[in-house]
Amino acid sequence: MTSVTAFAPATVSNVACGFDVLGFPLESPGDEVTATLAPSGVRIDAILNDGGRLPRDAARNTAGVAVLAFLATLGERRGVSLTIRKGLPLSSGLGGSAASAAAAVVAVNALMGANASRATLVGCALEGERLGAGSAHADNIAPCLCGGFVLVRRTHPLDIISLPVPHGLTAVVVHPDLEIETAKARALLGDMVPLQDAVRQWANLGAFVDGLHRGDFAQIGRSLEDTIAEPRRAALIPGLALIKRAAAEAGALGCSLSGSGPSLFALCQTPELAVAVAAAMTAAVKAHIGGEPQTYVSPISMQGAHVTASCAS
Ligand code: HSE
Repeated sequence: MTSVTAFAPATVSNVACGFDVLGFPLESPGDEVTATLAPSGVRIDAILNDGGRLPRDAARNTAGVAVLAFLATLGERRGVSLTIRKGLPLSSGLGGSAASAAAAVVAVNALMGANASRATLVGCALEGERLGAGSAHADNIAPCLCGGFVLVRRTHPLDIISLPVPHGLTAVVVHPDLEIETAKARALLGDMVPLQDAVRQWANLGAFVDGLHRGDFAQIGRSLEDTIAEPRRAALIPGLALIKRAAAEAGALGCSLSGSGPSLFALCQTPELAVAVAAAMTAAVKAHIGGEPQTYVSPISMQGAHVTASCAS
């Protein structure tokens, strides 16, 4: 194989009650990376659809850093060149840096015939996330690579747990016409949280996980509350409370920020409800933020990042 292309989807991280430890992928949109064999090192040949804003130097690019870590893990002397096609908007809260890193390691894994485990790929892609967000949280990377709901119990050593997805559960994501850099959104959080907020958060997370296992939609909905990050980031999203109310009134189980925002997600019991919730949230985002939001309705993807094409010539 001389060239392999992989796709990696958008992810919703935090999922309200699981700051830094819970996430799931959509089916689309996502980023695509083509990796081509080269004599040595890691080079970025091209990045498409980023408006020239992402670093072309592999050591400063999330996908480049992930591949450098992966080749080092393999002890691989051959090199690769990468072409990155951004399908995800920058600084959108949809896990764009994670998607590029995940697609890159999946493509290189196939290119090298390495057959590395998903856990190895997560560990290497996490190095890209550390560069992009200033912190090695795996709540985008792990679901992006594994598919389904993923709980990150620990990153060192890595311990990730796949959770069930109840039949019918459907996600709505609305990306307002705004950008928020993850590193800046993280800086708003500080280092301490009041004990009563932490207690409420871990009670919600436990109940959410139990709700997934039992397919208890009412309990899933009650548990979609963020007492840690959303209150500290709310000021970044004009009309957040009103957008959440519009989602609830249209029948969403719950609604919160996707990752560090500005995208918002809602979970819905059926695809039909999700269509109604998507319309209500989009109208509310237009009313309170303005601009032209992008709206996605998707099942929780069970596939995660995967190879889409390979070329032997
Ligand atoms: N858990 C992360 C955060 C996701 O909320 O900062 C963004 O990458």
